[in-house]
Order: sequence, then structure tokens, then C-alpha cells
Amino acid sequence: MNFPDALIIQNLYQFKPPLPFSPGGEAAGIVDAVGDGVTAFKPGDRVIAMIGNGAFREQFVADQTRVLPMVGDMPFDVAAGFTMTYGTSHHALKQRARLQAGETLLVLGAAGGVGLTAVELGKLMGAKVIAAASSDDKLALCKSYGADEVINYSTEDLKDRVKALTGGKGVDVIYDPVGDKYAEPAFRSIAWNGRYLVIGFAAGEIPKLPLNLPLIKGASIVGVFWGAFTAHEPALHEANMQELLGWYHEGRLKPHVSARLPLAEGAKAIRLLMDRKAMGKVILTA
Ligand SMILES: NC(=O)c1ccc[n+]([C@@H]2O[C@H](COP(=O)([O-])OP(=O)(O)OC[C@H]3O[C@@H](n4cnc5c(N)ncnc54)[C@H](OP(=O)(O)O)[C@@H]3O)[C@@H](O)[C@H]2O)c1
Repeated sequence: MNFPDALIIQNLYQFKPPLPFSPGGEAAGIVDAVGDGVTAFKPGDRVIAMIGNGAFREQFVADQTRVLPMVGDMPFDVAAGFTMTYGTSHHALKQRARLQAGETLLVLGAAGGVGLTAVELGKLMGAKVIAAASSDDKLALCKSYGADEVINYSTEDLKDRVKALTGGKGVDVIYDPVGDKYAEPAFRSIAWNGRYLVIGFAAGEIPKLPLNLPLIKGASIVGVFWGAFTAHEPALHEANMQELLGWYHEGRLKPHVSARLPLAEGAKAIRLLMDRKAMGKVILTA
């Protein structure tokens, strides 16, 4: 499950597949058969497929360019939820923000699917990470993933707390998958030369920012669209995936699966995300 699965069935996503369709951006499974000209895979191979939609099924067809081999002993429930969350955060922090060791990173929605991977990758890249989320149990999870500081934005003032935690300087990079009313106070806490990563709008509204804010901070508003990146820059995407899978196999990434539900309960899984109850990944099993 990824939040875009919830958006796509409400006709709110960037892509609008022709009806009827099933959601499901990514999956892991076993190759049953291959078409003519497929050389990289054979029946019986364990694979990850990144197909955008249509993965909430027992069987589907994937183009071989959207398939990765599952190596080692990676479990299916980890592989099924690995590519979009880690892929988005890695691309965002590495290519879009050019996050440097020693910089400060603020992650909003930090216990969610993409958010928690941003906390983990931010630490791995040597940043000081401030995790912001809506409840103490979500923030405890972020702490266990290495967050240096936490902010509960349901009970604390985001901008004031960031100011206090950074000695008035602000944060170098902001990772925002939430948008809505959280975006402007977050942006007002950015440091000189900061980079604000536009990841998504899980809280609902697409925010509008006064453009004097980036001007006075010499800051950048940087868009991130991982799905389009994988299509526009396939070689870089492939290199990113190899780096991420390498880190996973070295034990440096610990994907967090908080719930596993049978495929028949797919609607319940979507509700968990829409009701803000998911932490890390929710996985459907067939
Ligand atoms: N740009 C890209 O390439 C890309 C790729 C993947 C995903 N995304 C986007 O990133 C966002 C997060 O995706 P995800 O799969 O990580 O989702 P998720 O696991 O559901 O996490 C979303 C987080 O947003 C916060 N949130 C605040 N208000 C919310 C609301 N009204 N409803 C639901 N969540 C709310 C929640 O944290 P708190 O309760 O702590 O606030 C939640 O943990 C989505 O907007 C998605 O479309 C973008």
C-alpha cells in the first residue's frame, strides 16, 4: 500500500487509468511465465514489480523494464513495499536536495511510508534529523529509526520548535509529504540556502506559499516525482535501486512493516492510510 493507491481510486492522482482498474503501485512475487524476447527473467524467479497500478491482484503482467530481481533472503512482505518509499526518499534527498552530511533535515509525516524512510536515509547520509508527526507513538517509532529530535505538530508549534532546536538558524532541508496547513510553518523554519522538497499532500490541500519566503531565505522549492523520474532517467533510477538494495543487504536499512492484511481486505488497508493510522508500511498478502 502507498498513499497514491488511495488517491488513484478517488480520481485525485496525476495519472487517471482507464476504468476498470485495480490499484497497487508495486508488488513482489514469483514469475509464472515470460513473453517472447524476455531474457532477464524466467518462470520461478522471485521479483519486485513497479507497475504504477494494477498490483492488488494474485496475477498481473509487468513490462520487464519495470521488474527487479529479489536477491538473497529478502522476504516478500519487505520486497513488496520497498521500491516506492525508499526510491522516493533516496531520489529526493540525494538528487533533488543534495543533502550533505552535517546538514539538518526536517521530515514531516515522519512515521508514514515515505516519511520513515526519509528519517532512516537522512541519518544514513549523515544529517541531523528532526522528525515531525501527529502522535507520541509515531514519534517514538521515528526515534527508534534514529531521529535526533522530534516534534509533535498536533500539540507543539512547528516553527517555534524548529527555531529552538536549531538555535534560531532553521533547517537546511525539509521533506514534506503532508502539505496543507503544515507547509507554510515548515517553510518559515527553513535556513538560508535551504531546500524544500515537495513530496505530496497527504493532509489534503495543495498549499500555496507566498513567494517572498524563498526570496528572503535564498531558498529553493524543489519538486519530487519519483515515478516520472524512473521513466525519464532509467539509468540513474537503476543505480539508485542498486545502492538502496545494497544498503538493505548490508543491514543498514530496516524496512518497517506495521500491518499485513489479506488481499480480500484491501479496502481496510486503504482506510488505515486514509485515517492516518498506518506507520511505516501496510502490506497486502495474496
Ligand atoms: N512525490 C513522489 O514521487 C511521491 C512518491 C510516493 C508518495 N508520495 C506522496 O507522499 C505522501 C505520503 O505517502 P505515503 O505512502 O508515505 O502515505 P502514508 O504512509 O499514509 O503517510 C502519510 C503521512 O501523512 C500524515 N498525514 C497528515 N494528515 C493526513 C491526513 N489527513 N490523511 C492521511 N495522512 C495524513 C500522516 O502522519 P501524521 O499523522 O503524523 O501527520 C501520515 O503518516 C502522499 O501524498 C503520496 O502521494 C509522493
